[in-house]
Amino acid sequence: MGVKFICWTLFLNLLVLMSCYGSEGAMEMGGHMGHHHMDDPSSVMVFFTLKDLKIGKRMPIHFPKRDPSTSPKFWPKEEADSIPFSLNELPNLLRHFSFSIDSPQAKAMEETLRECESKTIQGEVKLCATSLESMLEFTQRMIGSESGIQVFSTSHKTKSSVNFQNYTMLEILMEVPAPRMVACHTMPYPYAVFYCHSQKSENRVYKISLVGDNGDEVEAMVVCHLDTSQWSPTHISFSVLKVGPGSSSVCHFFPADHFIFVPKLQDQNGFSSM
Ligand SMILES: *[C@@H]1O[C@H](CO)[C@@H](O)[C@H](O)[C@H]1NC(C)=O
Repeated sequence: MGVKFICWTLFLNLLVLMSCYGSEGAMEMGGHMGHHHMDDPSSVMVFFTLKDLKIGKRMPIHFPKRDPSTSPKFWPKEEADSIPFSLNELPNLLRHFSFSIDSPQAKAMEETLRECESKTIQGEVKLCATSLESMLEFTQRMIGSESGIQVFSTSHKTKSSVNFQNYTMLEILMEVPAPRMVACHTMPYPYAVFYCHSQKSENRVYKISLVGDNGDEVEAMVVCHLDTSQWSPTHISFSVLKVGPGSSSVCHFFPADHFIFVPKLQDQNGFSSM
């Protein structure tokens, strides 16, 4: 089974998630990301430690739901590659997309480009993917061409408009073996852009079922970073958890439109699971 085939099945799954290519989606300005400027896009999430990962644990979590009709769409690679993606080019980009300099969209684009151009920490490799093809190419390169790829994301089992509430952990559905891992976080931009990164350090990946105070059910992906020694001391998670680099595991949930890629297990059927 060739890499091409695996990519193709992944591609189909992602297309379903991302509701296909489009010319230009509205930019979700209500999104939580455009309003923060932090070291890492994952820093907008709720942080906890491995010892809080247990059945019955209740905590407030932000689980924004993605509205496919308003989310930015992937552009075909040729189209995305035909315009610059760089902070230096921001004035031209704003003109291209007809956003005024002081608009919230301009601010969000600026922050996205700044995050994308920020330095990585030691042992980390990152790419801001501006197309599905480049996201998959990066992922395959990081995970290794000898293995297939599985993609995981958080899914909402019920519909409601509540984005922020207390959730209780009901069950740890699975621990996903993640000898290598790429996490891709969606960024505010006029078309779909994903901040993808891969760290050499040890991570644990879990799928957990949660129930919200209002009865909402979520099957959520959690990543726990066991080694935070290379993280910046100013990383927001440290002040939230009152710990320092290397002194504690740091776990966080993944919102629904962020992806976790890991090598495919040998003994599993199907090409990918959600
Ligand atoms: C979560 O529960 C705590 C304690 O019951 C409460 O103080 C807090 O306001 C709740 N948070 C949300 C977002 O509902």
